[in-house]
Amino acid sequence: MARSRSGQVAVVTGASSGIGWELARQLAAEGAKVAIVARRAEQLHALRKVITDAGGTAAAFVCDVGSRESVEATVRAVTEQLGPIDLVIANAGVGRPTHLDPVNMADVEDTFRINLMGVVYTLSAALPGMLARKSGHLVGISSLAGYRGLPGESAYCASKAAVNVYLDGLRIHLHGTGVKVTTVCPGFVTTPMTEMNTFHMPQVMTAQVAAGKILRAVRRGAKVYSFPWRLTMMVKLSRWVPDWLMKRFMADYETAPVK
Ligand SMILES: NC(=O)c1ccc[n+]([C@@H]2O[C@H](COP(=O)([O-])OP(=O)(O)OC[C@H]3O[C@@H](n4cnc5c(N)ncnc54)[C@H](OP(=O)(O)O)[C@@H]3O)[C@@H](O)[C@H]2O)c1
Repeated sequence: MARSRSGQVAVVTGASSGIGWELARQLAAEGAKVAIVARRAEQLHALRKVITDAGGTAAAFVCDVGSRESVEATVRAVTEQLGPIDLVIANAGVGRPTHLDPVNMADVEDTFRINLMGVVYTLSAALPGMLARKSGHLVGISSLAGYRGLPGESAYCASKAAVNVYLDGLRIHLHGTGVKVTTVCPGFVTTPMTEMNTFHMPQVMTAQVAAGKILRAVRRGAKVYSFPWRLTMMVKLSRWVPDWLMKRFMADYETAPVK
């Protein structure tokens, strides 16, 4: 594989499984020194071994992205250990259903804290160094679920919609500074997050394929990358579908998680 990122420092949050694991592995194969970030140390050490056995460079950082202090300390430690950060992929996220009666408020709060504030904390902690060097790339992993609220998934969808809009504003704010912003909205990907889904997942893909597509979009500096394109069109069109029909379409989803 071409070592197009030779010497660059990349941070991937949520690297202990799924899409983040694959993003980190592929970035290391492209020559980046990768900071792999998540809460579970054992999985991070397993990934570090996979990367170093393949001749790459990785350092593991245990961090809760829902804690600003934890994220800021991690970004300082990454810079000290690996050098100035070129690329940050804020990928860590949770997918919890939203119940009705009673609302599972602790899950709802966690969803916003991790999926939204986790992205904000991560990108904000890396930004000052990038602004000082007039160079860098901030990437947020959102979801196609951010385009329309879905029954049983209100908090997850809302957290991703907020990420989309936050990153839109950030991208425009940073225009001309040398710091790029990319929003990524994947469809269904087979990972631990979706493995309990009992319903049909249209156009589902492996984490390896998804990570490859995401890294190609990042390389070409895409502003917003939503994929796969047919599912993207369906989700965007669903905004015009009346609620009663959505309710009928989504009958299976109301009680099962949708990512
Ligand atoms: N799979 C899909 O179909 C799909 C579709 C669209 C978007 N996405 C998005 O893609 C991202 C990755 O999801 P995935 O499918 O790869 O899920 P996953 O396999 O469950 O991975 C989630 C990752 O996030 C980390 N994480 C969760 N809470 C964290 C916290 N508080 N602090 C630090 N790390 C935390 C987990 O690590 P620890 O538990 O070790 O902390 C894990 O590494 C998420 O943002 C998800 O919303 C997924």
